[in-house]
Amino acid sequence: MAAYGIDGVIMRTIGRRLATIVIAATMILLLGVASPATALDDGGAIDAAYQRLGGSAGRLGQPLDAGWCGLKDNGCVRHYQGGSVHWSSASGAHAAWGGIETRWAGLGREDGRLGYPLEEEQCGRAGSGCVQEFQGGSLYWTPSYGAVPVWGAIRATWGSMGWETGRLGYPTEGERCARAGNGCVQDFSNGTVYWSPDYGAHPVFAAFLSRWGTLGWEWGSLGYPTSDERCGLRGSGCLQEFTGGTLYWSPSTGAHPVGGGIGSYWSRYGWENGPFGYPTSGESCSGPCTQDFWGGRITWDPSAPMSYTLWDWNPLVAVSKRLPLSPQSYVPPSLVGIGSQQMRSDAASALQRMIDDAASAGISITLVSGYRSYDEQVSLYSSYAAQYGQAYADTVSARPGYSEHQSGLAMDIGNPDAACALQSCFESTPAGSYAAANAWRYGFIIRYPGGYQDITGYSYEPWHLRYIGPDAAAQMRSWGAPTLEQYFTLAAAPGY
Ligand code: DAL
Ligand code: ZN
Repeated sequence: MAAYGIDGVIMRTIGRRLATIVIAATMILLLGVASPATALDDGGAIDAAYQRLGGSAGRLGQPLDAGWCGLKDNGCVRHYQGGSVHWSSASGAHAAWGGIETRWAGLGREDGRLGYPLEEEQCGRAGSGCVQEFQGGSLYWTPSYGAVPVWGAIRATWGSMGWETGRLGYPTEGERCARAGNGCVQDFSNGTVYWSPDYGAHPVFAAFLSRWGTLGWEWGSLGYPTSDERCGLRGSGCLQEFTGGTLYWSPSTGAHPVGGGIGSYWSRYGWENGPFGYPTSGESCSGPCTQDFWGGRITWDPSAPMSYTLWDWNPLVAVSKRLPLSPQSYVPPSLVGIGSQQMRSDAASALQRMIDDAASAGISITLVSGYRSYDEQVSLYSSYAAQYGQAYADTVSARPGYSEHQSGLAMDIGNPDAACALQSCFESTPAGSYAAANAWRYGFIIRYPGGYQDITGYSYEPWHLRYIGPDAAAQMRSWGAPTLEQYFTLAAAPGY
């Protein structure tokens, strides 16, 4: 009766023709809601997926609605007690449920970056994890971290490292973007991946990660990573490059940054392979800047040339035509007498042992020239230059401030009868051949071997012994490094 009443009102207030249109439209609307299953435009894909997953006896349980279409890309959805099934022509029909579905919903479902699911979740992964792939990335779920999205370049990097069984482990949170350098960063259980448009995605791990953090992450002096970490450096070390410097790590020194002026000075001395070895601190500036390394300290004072001091115990001084002593007027810390000469005490005691052992073997070694001061080198070099001309003098004598003799670590040796004194035939004399065979055991090298003038800058000096310590001397020998330049990875120093 009420319907007639309303109808009667309508009939009275509008024309019969308009009323017919309204009734027809209402019927279409009612039909649509009353039998929505017939409106699913998915070719039966959603129901097929539902059946494939066990129908009402499966995880999805009973339908909650009849489903509807009109989603992104003309997709359709139907909801069930245990989850939902989404279909699009590009992705097919796949269910989502549980923690993964909740996170997907939080990310905007098919309208978000993930888009439609490409499969159901796959469980039984490492750490009781599950994964579900979507058009725009993956959702990884673990008991510890819940469901976390991974996509784009960070996902590709993670995948290239072996997904969750690789070194990174599981993602612990989604990526955070708009970082310094327009980058994005994502944390994983064992490391962090940083992506920037200029340098791509790079993982940062362990000691590098925490050191990077102490320096303010990507907002700090290091900026963001521009390379993966690279290991297998000397002494089992690793490095990783950043926009603002390089992190170096070794088992005994930990992780520290090197860069800027101190870094390039350090590189001239062979990086971690040279006398300084790995950094043991960051740079510290108060007026001048200093940085400590395993083997010594480098100082950068804007108003003075770069300079260094090696720790007193360190005999790995690098001196060549490219690397003067620091300062050029350098005087060694602990000069002692040895015969008529002087040397640094560590070198002197090692050389004395060699001389004593040679004597026991019936070979007499004499000492010709040990420590020479800057001023003594001035007169020696100028007498060579006066006698032979500068070009020749430069092949046999160092200029003042550039001689190993000034370091207190070098000794020219001879035979008592002065046979082949300061000549290449010295190598075949008793003292020369004993030194060639045995000097390394005492920590000495023949610093200017024959045939390497293009590297050392000097012609063959089989009499010039240089103390570098027994470990380094043994290593040079076993590695077959003929010159200190090669051992320290220094640039060749044929000239000044
Ligand atoms: N004879 C060497 C190169 C020196 O003068 O130090
Ligand atoms: Zn010499």
